Amino acid sequence: MTKRSGTRQWFKRHTNDPFVRQARKAGYRSRAAYKLIEMDQRYRIFRKGQVVIDLGGAPGGWSQVATEKVGKTGQVIAIDLLPMQPMEGVSIRQGDIADPSIHDWIERELKKPCGVVISDMAPNITGIRDRDQANAVRLWQMALQFALQYLGKDGAFIIKVFQGDGFEPFLNQLREAFKSVTVHKPKASRTASREVYFMAKNPKFRPNMVKKSDF
Ligand SMILES: C[S@@+](CC[C@H](N)C(=O)[O-])C[C@H]1O[C@@H](n2cnc3c(N)ncnc32)[C@H](O)[C@@H]1O
Repeated sequence: MTKRSGTRQWFKRHTNDPFVRQARKAGYRSRAAYKLIEMDQRYRIFRKGQVVIDLGGAPGGWSQVATEKVGKTGQVIAIDLLPMQPMEGVSIRQGDIADPSIHDWIERELKKPCGVVISDMAPNITGIRDRDQANAVRLWQMALQFALQYLGKDGAFIIKVFQGDGFEPFLNQLREAFKSVTVHKPKASRTASREVYFMAKNPKFRPNMVKKSDF
């Protein structure tokens, strides 16, 4: 397949996709919004008034869902390498989650302990499968550090992962760190995609908690 015909195929599949059409109609910035909606309907992730940290939030579909769920008394904090258009109720920071200065910013933004960390992050695809998977695993590890650092004791961590190298060890790591871990493939996730979502609840320990006395 040439690059051009590949792009044409992607475009055709994208415009015929029922979740793309539904997202456009409902005003969601991404079809991915429906993955989070489904997971919340099934596993009751969000509650009114919660703080949510959205890692890799752009263009903002998940942040939109999170703000709807936590309401005006809640707070959503979103970080992405890419710019993200402003959104009411969302504190946005453009940057790499690996950048240590992000933590100073989060500490300043946080109004109360974090209830949910969501990560839909994906690395830029190079086309070299092993390298792409290794880059993805690095992102999962960083997201897990975020979750363990900021989540309160009843907190939940939702993360997109890709089946392949590093998948099972990461699942085991989550099982060690959280009291319950569920694996889910939402309907909006394409069957051909290796992506699935891990939902981890109730951290067993929080080694790096920020401002311990405040939380
Ligand atoms: C699939 S998109 C997220 C879509 C989003 N959940 C939505 O519903 O609109 C993945 C995002 O992860 C971001 N990302 C990848 N690596 C990152 C990093 N190191 N730090 C911050 N964001 C990152 C990408 O820039 C990209 O926007």
